[in-house]
Amino acid sequence: MVAAQLDAVDAGAMPILLNTLPVDAEIPVSALANASILVLEVSPGYPASLERLSAVRDLYPRLPVIAAVRDANLPLVRTLLKQGVRDVVGLPLPHAELVEMLKEISAELQAELSSEVQQGQLVTIMKSIGGVGATTVATHLASELAARNTGRGVCVFDLDLQFGDAASYLGLSNQLSIADLLEAGSRIDGELLRSVVTTTPQGLNVIAAPADMMPIEAVNADQILRIIDLARQEFDFVVIDLPTNWTNWALSLVARSTAIFLIVELSVASLRQAKRQLQLLDNQGIRGDHVNIVANRVEKRLFRTIDLESAAQALGHPVELSIHNDYPLVRAAHDQGVLIQQIRAKSKIVGDIANFLPRLGVEA
Ligand SMILES: Nc1ncnc2c1ncn2[C@@H]1O[C@H](COP(=O)(O)OP(=O)(O)O)[C@@H](O)[C@H]1O
Ligand SMILES: [Mg+2]
Repeated sequence: MVAAQLDAVDAGAMPILLNTLPVDAEIPVSALANASILVLEVSPGYPASLERLSAVRDLYPRLPVIAAVRDANLPLVRTLLKQGVRDVVGLPLPHAELVEMLKEISAELQAELSSEVQQGQLVTIMKSIGGVGATTVATHLASELAARNTGRGVCVFDLDLQFGDAASYLGLSNQLSIADLLEAGSRIDGELLRSVVTTTPQGLNVIAAPADMMPIEAVNADQILRIIDLARQEFDFVVIDLPTNWTNWALSLVARSTAIFLIVELSVASLRQAKRQLQLLDNQGIRGDHVNIVANRVEKRLFRTIDLESAAQALGHPVELSIHNDYPLVRAAHDQGVLIQQIRAKSKIVGDIANFLPRLGVEA
């Protein structure tokens, strides 16, 4: 790889980063999060090298990978292509061949990009532990967005495949769900997506969780990314409610989110889990302004054992958004399958959630 004089490669002003790693070392994912093409040396004699390749494919299914192999033979090339690598080059890598290949792929990527319409924002709601109010935030934030959007609209996806209750909170009893989209495979298109959507009287589009529990790890990562990418072409905002347990597809979705809201409670258990989640995101190179912590169920009295300031300290991350506690009100809304504002027009909770909107470039 070094012999290919990567520094001198002019592939359309594409910055090139060379990482030298042991054959069994994990690839620093922070390097991958922003990559547009990966050229990866694969040593077929080492299982760890092949596992590393498939780990990258799982986590970044849409990242084009070129496998660089010494003494490539036809069966090996075939195996690699079957694993989804875009191309295979021989090592030592001829400079000219690499340049040609990078130019070709970047032209293809450019063509794919320009044929795509402006992608909608992907807003992910995560929770520290179950029951902290993620679904309440997802449904109400999406409703606030929908109330202000005059464009392509807003769609909330309940991806909490086992315990999803977004549809029920919104008073919808769906026959169709995300399961129908997952089953559709490559037949998925805008029309099919819209046929599974249910729209609330307030104009919020909803894709419900499956009626029957399904194993979250059984979901095909490529398929779910395909569904969400498609939704981003159809809607201005796609809001997703994730399961508590991590899977590769959930991480991939979080990695491509334009905004993340991590919902916590001011309890020791919740903050401890939130810290672990933040650590996990950080390890994946997911950090920055678009990661927001939301403290839910904050008492009016400020005399709390753990207040927002010390929560921020414990998490090593600012806690700038908070939501008032009003259990009877939230409970009544969920039980009746209506929005909180339909029970109480000027509720503090809805105001608190509307305060998130500037983070999405929308006026509160
Ligand atoms: N701001 C709040 N004040 C009082 N209770 C709340 C608030 N937000 C959520 N809850 C309650 O917490 C419970 C869990 O909410 P939910 O949104 O389903 O959480 P999650 O999706 O994180 O599991 C519900 O019973 C709901 O009534
Ligand atoms: Mg939930």
